[in-house]
Amino acid sequence: MAAKIIDGKLFAEGLRTRIAGHVARLKSEHGITPGLAVVIVGHDPGSQVYVAQKAKQTVEMGMHSEKYELPETVSEADVLALVEKLNADPAIHGILVQLPVPKHIDSLKIIQTISPDKDVDCFTPTSVGKLVIGLPGPVSCTPLGCLMLLRDQLGSLAGLDAVIIGRSNLVGKPMAQLLLADNCTVTMAHSRTKNLAEVVRRADIVVAAVGRPKMIQGDWIKPGATVIDVGINRIDAPERGEGKTRLVGDVDYAAAAEVAGAITPVPGGVGPMTIACLLANTITTASLINGLVPPSDLTA
Ligand code: GUN
Repeated sequence: MAAKIIDGKLFAEGLRTRIAGHVARLKSEHGITPGLAVVIVGHDPGSQVYVAQKAKQTVEMGMHSEKYELPETVSEADVLALVEKLNADPAIHGILVQLPVPKHIDSLKIIQTISPDKDVDCFTPTSVGKLVIGLPGPVSCTPLGCLMLLRDQLGSLAGLDAVIIGRSNLVGKPMAQLLLADNCTVTMAHSRTKNLAEVVRRADIVVAAVGRPKMIQGDWIKPGATVIDVGINRIDAPERGEGKTRLVGDVDYAAAAEVAGAITPVPGGVGPMTIACLLANTITTASLINGLVPPSDLTA
């Protein structure tokens, strides 16, 4: 059986259309232009590409965009001062400091300085706490994107067995909370999990977020399961020519697609959803800051 390919690029396009509609409504009905500030420290090429994409898509949605590029040598105090300034700026509803930051800067200190009201990454302890107890607020971008794809594919997730591989603060832990809130039975697997193949074989939903290329084997997948691959790993691809590389996920895609009911490809699966969800979170925070109920079609 060949799995259905879950087209994250297409879904993200639809989400951006809804976001653009909400931006237009916030402007025309409430005089609010949602504003997102992105901050990058240093010159990591990968981070620069992500941040440029975030700023570009913000503008495309009709939002206000500010981009701050700080030198590698900037002091922690100067980054904190910028975050404080953005916290106080009424034109800004979302603040994102691209991680990782250079080693001389304490990322936790930066995160804890971001106002929870503007925390579009859902990184602050306050935002994480709200997510856990189900209060309105921003939702971690990549897990939110995964949840949207799962709901679109499966409808109700109630009662399904979900296995998450990877326990990061960025993906694994918030993903578990979201799936629990959607009434899944959630298992979190990680590097110390025994009999990982057996654990994964029980899952109706597999979310792979370990950062190890093709680690999840095709014969670990239960027939018909839905597989969400969060991994983005660059590997050598000599078949494409000398020195060439390509992107692969954490799942052995070709083998898993023979068994799964549906699967996200890499690239083109979860990746495009992350930035779209960041923009959705900016609508959510802009609404809440202004005492409005956030649109419900940006989280479902
Ligand atoms: N670096 C890699 N992914 C992310 C993300 O989602 N948010 C931030 N702030 N930094 C990142």
